[in-house]
Amino acid sequence: MTGKYATERLCADAGGIARAARILAGGGLVAVPTETVYGLAARADSETAVAGIYLAKGRPSFNPLIVHVADMAMARRLAVVSPAAEALAAAHWPGPLTLVLPRREDAGLAEAVSAGLDTVALRMPAHPAMRELIGAVGAPLAAPSANRSGFISPTRADHVLGSLDGRIDAVLDGGECPRGLESTIVAVRADGSADVLRPGPIDLGEMAKKGAIEAPGQLASHYAPGKPMRLDATKVAPGDFLIGFGAIAGDCTLSASGDLEEAATRLYACLHEAARAPQASIAVAPIPEQGIGRAINDRLRRAATPPA
Ligand code: TXA
Ligand code: MG
Repeated sequence: MTGKYATERLCADAGGIARAARILAGGGLVAVPTETVYGLAARADSETAVAGIYLAKGRPSFNPLIVHVADMAMARRLAVVSPAAEALAAAHWPGPLTLVLPRREDAGLAEAVSAGLDTVALRMPAHPAMRELIGAVGAPLAAPSANRSGFISPTRADHVLGSLDGRIDAVLDGGECPRGLESTIVAVRADGSADVLRPGPIDLGEMAKKGAIEAPGQLASHYAPGKPMRLDATKVAPGDFLIGFGAIAGDCTLSASGDLEEAATRLYACLHEAARAPQASIAVAPIPEQGIGRAINDRLRRAATPPA
């Protein structure tokens, strides 16, 4: 692929992480493995570094970024962490939960991180490579999923290079992302009320899921594989690439044993395979709407919605 960068592929060992930290400290862009998906990281306190993320992804400027922190002290310097938010963080951090909180005026974050909102989305990741990087850089890292805007999220370094080669400084290859699906996003207000803005690996089932206004990135069409997609398919039509689940075996199968956690881990790899396949359309077997199945179906519905 062409672009102004000669994108380096780094191994996620001590040397690779040190090199990635130097690039990030200097304001560069590095795709980094997390337990959910690969994120395109840049220091969140630099206007120019954050502007680089939007440019590399072709991301609309109204869509804010998640800021990744190393510890609670860093989180409290960036946002007002209410007791309700502290309780959620204590239960689920480090891990695949993002909290949307009131942003502190003296947070020292690039303005573009919040895209004009007075809130900031914070996550303390569990993946050791991402944790070491935040520590080595000594600054919070902004990181959206490391894909071109609107396209399928990456769970392998090859997926990242497929859409961002030549547009970023480096990718840190840490193998496959263990959870495979983006974090659950919860907005917590000063009065302690909370809403799920995006379902994800952490099932907060009883919490209400709110509309799209507060999560500007939750557009109806997203994760687009670039061809028509049919959900709840029990039969293959001629010309379909079938994504199977449970008893329905496909060209790619999310989980032959019907395990929803395994299906989440494999979802984006199967969507990438379906996008590359010669078949003109994609059919997906029914996925139970329970636990992480809700988040899988949320992503599948967006992938099946044609761009406006
Ligand atoms: O697991 C994840 O969350 C991954 C890894 C890399 O951490 N990141 C990720 O980022 O999925 P992204 O940019 O693809 O999705 C972030 C979502 C977007 O829908 C965005 O609109 C929403 O978070 N968001 C960010 N800041 C927000 C804010 N202040 N208020 C409401 N929504 C926000
Ligand atoms: Mg994304």
